[in-house]
Amino acid sequence: MIYGVGIDLVENSRMERIVKKWGPKFINRIFSIKEIQYCGKHAHSAIHYGARFAAKESFLKALGIGMGMGVKLSDIEVVNDENGKPSLKLCGEAKIIIKKAKISKIHLSLTHTKNYSMAVVVLEKK
Ligand SMILES: CC(C)(COP(=O)(O)OP(=O)(O)OC[C@H]1O[C@@H](n2cnc3c(N)ncnc32)[C@H](O)[C@@H]1OP(=O)(O)O)[C@@H](O)C(=O)NCCC(=O)NCCS
Repeated sequence: MIYGVGIDLVENSRMERIVKKWGPKFINRIFSIKEIQYCGKHAHSAIHYGARFAAKESFLKALGIGMGMGVKLSDIEVVNDENGKPSLKLCGEAKIIIKKAKISKIHLSLTHTKNYSMAVVVLEKK
């Protein structure tokens, strides 16, 4: 059964401004080393940071919680398989909550244009 659905849309110009203003201070607090490497490989890295930020927020929405409610955004990592398909890898409090709620599968889809990045997360429970 479906436990929850979350969606989020990020304005890439806003992400670009934040990355430019705060640099590593912001990036290292929110994104994993692998995410930073992935985004850094692309000419327009803010688009990919935006998509990952949207994925993290979508996950919280699917859980029905918000930011500052125990789960750190850095506990939620987007990883891409060899075909580019993204999925979420969890650690810390995010992993604990998923286990407690008996969520058995997490679905993630990302899309982006020059201006916007978007993510959808579906949480499944047996
Ligand atoms: C999936 C695909 C249709 C998306 O194309 P698109 O419309 O140009 O791109 P969108 O902006 O809508 O989506 C981009 C996101 O799709 C996701 N994506 C990429 N490949 C995917 C796949 N095989 N399955 C599901 N999602 C995929 C990624 O999350 C990507 O964002 P990210 O790079 O920031 O993680 C296209 O990438 C495709 O056909 N991929 C096939 C596999 C492939 O060619 N891989 C090349 C690397 S080996």
